[in-house]
Amino acid sequence: MTIAIRQLHPLFFGEVSGVDLRRPLSPAEVAAIEAGMDKYAVLVFHGQDITDEQQVAFSRNFGRIEQAVGSNVLKPGERRLSLDIADVSNLDKDHKVLARNDRTRMFNLGNRLWHSDSSFRAVPAKYSLLSGRVVTSGDDGGNTEFADMRAAYDALDQATKDRIGDLVCEHSLMYSRGSMGFGPFTEEEMKTFRPVRQRLVRTHPVSGRKSLYLSAHIGTIVGWEMPEARDFIRELTEHATQRQFVHAHAWAQYDLVMWDNRQLMHRVRPFDETKVRDMRRTTIQGDAPTAEQQAA
Ligand code: OGA
Ligand code: MN
Repeated sequence: MTIAIRQLHPLFFGEVSGVDLRRPLSPAEVAAIEAGMDKYAVLVFHGQDITDEQQVAFSRNFGRIEQAVGSNVLKPGERRLSLDIADVSNLDKDHKVLARNDRTRMFNLGNRLWHSDSSFRAVPAKYSLLSGRVVTSGDDGGNTEFADMRAAYDALDQATKDRIGDLVCEHSLMYSRGSMGFGPFTEEEMKTFRPVRQRLVRTHPVSGRKSLYLSAHIGTIVGWEMPEARDFIRELTEHATQRQFVHAHAWAQYDLVMWDNRQLMHRVRPFDETKVRDMRRTTIQGDAPTAEQQAA
């Protein structure tokens, strides 16, 4: 089998064929997928009925797996999956749909805000790999939308590019969840979710393309008053999520969608929460904090 990629949106988003994610990949296959990620920023692999172990093994081709701690409000003993996997489902550890007022469900509603995964970590995520084990589709909702932050950056006027080139933002789960009225946070959560700094403009290490590093986790811009910062970030986010920059992925069971958090934002759309939606994510660590990286 040879890997082929078909572009599904004028700007980004590739559909991959010719690869079976249950088997070890050859170096050439890994290189083809990485090149696809650099170019399309998000790839979908259809029909991949994989186990957690196979998902983890496939993910390890692309770097170290981020551990799913510090990114949720689960208490010890509440986890359904191993620490290699972020549980993005609507299920508890007994595989039951979470109650409407469940605190974990309230927290997970934050995934409906445009964001970049783990931008609240000092070393933020590179890739996310989301496996749809049980999906919702059609009238039941639950599409995942992606917005191309490279194209959004390119479309800015020069004055705005000059203004934002060296800006640094503070990101925290307390900001994204706080914006929805989630709370209060425990002492321990406040410690875990302490804000980190990230550049607002990033440069892709391979393509050299610049992108807007936006996320719902942003709460302020270093050196700015918070209301002014939030107003400005809201304006940029509105710009960056206009329809021409967005592709909606409608899930089929056993799709695996892999995206580059350095080049995109994403969000999940509302869905019928009486239905099971079992989504499992492995996340690849980035290389370094972004605040010290140069924009150009
Ligand atoms: C994620 C996420 C979207 C979805 O896995 O990082 O935001 O469709 N999920 O569940
Ligand atoms: Mn996410």
